[in-house]
Amino acid sequence: MTATKTIRWAGALGVASLLLAACGGPSDEPADGASGTGDGREIPLSLNQTEEHPNFLALSEFAENVAERTEGRVNIRVFPNAVLGEQQESVQLVGDGSVGMASISAPQMVNLNEDFMVLDMPLVFDSEEHQMATINDMEIVGELYSSLADSQSLTVLGAYTQGARSVYNSRGPIETPEDLAGLKVRVQESPLHIAMIQAMGGTPTPMPFSEVYTALQGGVIDAAENNAPSYLTQRHYETAPYFSYTNHLIGADFLVVNSELLASFSEEDRAVVEEEFAASVETFMSIWQEQVAAAIEETTAAGAQYNEVDAEAFREVLQPVVDDALETETQRELFEAIRDRA
Ligand code: GCU
Repeated sequence: MTATKTIRWAGALGVASLLLAACGGPSDEPADGASGTGDGREIPLSLNQTEEHPNFLALSEFAENVAERTEGRVNIRVFPNAVLGEQQESVQLVGDGSVGMASISAPQMVNLNEDFMVLDMPLVFDSEEHQMATINDMEIVGELYSSLADSQSLTVLGAYTQGARSVYNSRGPIETPEDLAGLKVRVQESPLHIAMIQAMGGTPTPMPFSEVYTALQGGVIDAAENNAPSYLTQRHYETAPYFSYTNHLIGADFLVVNSELLASFSEEDRAVVEEEFAASVETFMSIWQEQVAAAIEETTAAGAQYNEVDAEAFREVLQPVVDDALETETQRELFEAIRDRA
C-alpha cells in the first residue's frame, strides 16, 4: 500500500468512526452509510474531486436542497478529495452500504455492467447537449440505471457531464495520432479506454485519478486525458502544459446510491432526492460552462498551451474502437436510441 493510500484509508477510517460516534455507537442497525435512512443520520457521498471542482459545488447544493426539503431527514454530506476511497473502491463501498452515495466515472460502471459502455465511448455523443438530453432520460437509460439494484445494491440516479476529454502531455503539442507515439498516457481503469488510447497511438497506463499528479511529476507517465476543470483543480498543467483538443470522448459521472438506502426513504423523500438531482444537473451545467472557460484562462495564464488537432484523423482511428465495442443487441439498441436523438 502506498503512503498516500494509507493516509487516505486512515482518513476513511476516521470518518467511519466519526459516523459511529454520531450514531451513538454500535446498535442493532449497522452504523454505516446505508443505515442513514431518512432519519437525519449523515449519509456520506464519496467524491474524488477537490472543493473547487464543479461536481463538489453542484453536489453540495443538491445535498443542501434535499436536507431543506426533507426537513433534515435526508442528510447527505459530500466528502471530497477521495478521502472515502478512489472510485473503484467507493462503488464497492456503496454496494456494501458502508458509504451511502458516490460520484462514479463511467468506466467504473462499465466494469460492473458492460452495457454502461455505450454511455462511455467515443463518437456516441455529438455534444454535451446531446449527451445531457439522453443520459438523464429515463425512457432511454431507466432500465440500465436500475440494472445493478438486485445484484450489487447500486442504483444510478443520473449523471453530470465531464465534457469532452482531451490529451495533455509534458513534451509538446499533439496534432495527429502519430504525435502520440511513445507517450505513456494515463487512462481510467477500463478495457475500452485502454483500447481507445492504443488506437490513438499512445501507450495506455491505467491508474486511479488521485495518483496522476505524482505520476506526471515523477515521469512515470508523460500524459493524461481529461477536461479543463480537472486539468486545473488537479494541477496537472504544472507538469503537462500541452493541452491538445483531441475531444476523443464525452465522459460522464454518475451519482450512485445504495439501493436499500434509497428504498428506505419514504416515497415523498425519495421523490425529493430524485427531483433535486434532476434540478442539480441544470445547476451543474451552468457552473460547468463557467468553470471550463475559467480553467482554460487560469491554466493559460500559468503557462499551459492549448491547440487544435486534426479532428478527422482522430475520428478515423476511433471509429473501429466503437464498432468493435458494441457487441450485444442491448448495447446496439441503446446506442441507436442515443444516436436517434443526435
Ligand atoms: C474526471 C471525472 C472523474 C474521473 C476523472 C478520471 O475528472 O470527473 O470522475 O475520476 O475524470 O480521469 O479519473
